[in-house]
Amino acid sequence: KKIPNQMLIIFGASGDLTTRKLIPAIFDLYKDGHLPESFAVLGVSRSQLSDKEFRDKSIWKSPFLQKAIAKQEDEFIKTFAEKFHYHDLGSEYDRSYDDLAQKIAELNEQYQTQGNYIFYLSTPPSLYGTIAKNLNEANLSQENGGFRRLIVEKPFGYDLESAKKLNETLHHYFEEKQVYRIDHYLGKETVQNLLVTRFSNSIFEPLWNRRYIHHVEITNAETVGVEKRGGYYDKSGALRDMFQSHLLQIVSLIVMEPPISADAEEIRDEKVKALKSLRIMKSDEEIIKNTLRGQYVTTQIEGRTHKGYREEEGVNPESTTETFAAIKFYVDNWRWKGVPFYVRTGKAMPTKVTEAVIHFKTPPHEVFMSQDAYRKDNKLIIRIQPNEGILIKFGVKVPGLGFHVDQANMEFYYSDLESAQVMDAYERLLLDAMQGDTTLYARADEVEAAWRFVDPILKCWENNPAVNTYGYSVGTWGPRNSDEMIEDSFGWRNPGD
Ligand code: BG6
Repeated sequence: KKIPNQMLIIFGASGDLTTRKLIPAIFDLYKDGHLPESFAVLGVSRSQLSDKEFRDKSIWKSPFLQKAIAKQEDEFIKTFAEKFHYHDLGSEYDRSYDDLAQKIAELNEQYQTQGNYIFYLSTPPSLYGTIAKNLNEANLSQENGGFRRLIVEKPFGYDLESAKKLNETLHHYFEEKQVYRIDHYLGKETVQNLLVTRFSNSIFEPLWNRRYIHHVEITNAETVGVEKRGGYYDKSGALRDMFQSHLLQIVSLIVMEPPISADAEEIRDEKVKALKSLRIMKSDEEIIKNTLRGQYVTTQIEGRTHKGYREEEGVNPESTTETFAAIKFYVDNWRWKGVPFYVRTGKAMPTKVTEAVIHFKTPPHEVFMSQDAYRKDNKLIIRIQPNEGILIKFGVKVPGLGFHVDQANMEFYYSDLESAQVMDAYERLLLDAMQGDTTLYARADEVEAAWRFVDPILKCWENNPAVNTYGYSVGTWGPRNSDEMIEDSFGWRNPGD
């Protein structure tokens, strides 16, 4: 598909996310030949920078591009860097937007971008409303001639109420179809593959329901702590940072009904329905029973001290913010009635991994002896990262006498494909936005439905003194009592153990 000439205007251009994710993604698009014939980037932020300083900081001297740059001719990088320009908007993003509009008009002329603009908000969310309003007042949000799109980063709101308010504010100045709420998990190849696994394989779909599935488990683990983001994270916590957005997106793709086509609205309609069918926990008692929050504590490993969360920069030394969350819940609809979902996420864990495991029910009558209870059930493991792929665990006869059953793996890894290049999530999502494809972006009602489920948990955790934040050692799978959340003999699957 031919991509129209356009300009990407990045607010928060000197920020960490821009240098770390966005510009490398634009570079990959350039390298892979996906940028339109004529394309410009205008960086906007509070720092005072010249075009040259901006190019140096975000391209030539960027630690995130060094490896890629080293592989290319200087001329190739120079052509790329020259597409980048900079405009300073004052310390509170308050300098006149007429100047900004003027600058955009000039670049539009120079690059022939036909009035097609994407505004990428990579600023603190508290500025989203002001920026949208100012863009509107400077006549930059109206689609007269070219397209106008607004990409917003998470966090999208702090709770249900603030998310609704933010949607309302944005809708004041932009139409919903112009708003692209980015959730980078949707850009991951294997997250998209969930749809294909389910809806183009007739061997899975007939089993994808309460009759054959015993429970569903999702684990998201990171080895890192909060690093330099203590200030942001301490006000957020794992439930807001990972669960409300990325993990509920994965849940919605596992839970949703088949869409009638691959059209963005059809898919998003089904995802909203899925999120709306999550059983909202009403009482504190129910929440305390089905959720758990944890925090990593100072830990000695082989003579080395690993910082606990409360010692991290920007974190309140008495903070009860969770760096680990585990939630058990049900989905109240025809397909999923009675099937428990277990989802956990944590920082400072033993390995970096994200996977969803579909546990199928064991056969109704046991004819053969299994090696042990955990190995009895068929599992479909969707490995989202790393080693992206799919595994099926199934029973085989242990060779030799008798009829003992053990489990064998059937494995598919993306890296084994000939055309194995898995596109980076940001690269994929940016390309979609440039083409006007909203399928992998979250819609307003989707974000609100996710908050509706999370909101009572947040409120209970914050207000009920009976809620503990349990400590766990760095490099472990979270607080010990999270193991007791899964009632029967299955337990969590700890990849790599
Ligand atoms: C971000 C969270 O959205 O996702 C981070 O704010 C987290 O806290 C990150 O580390 C994880 O992303 P990935 O792609 O590394 O799994």
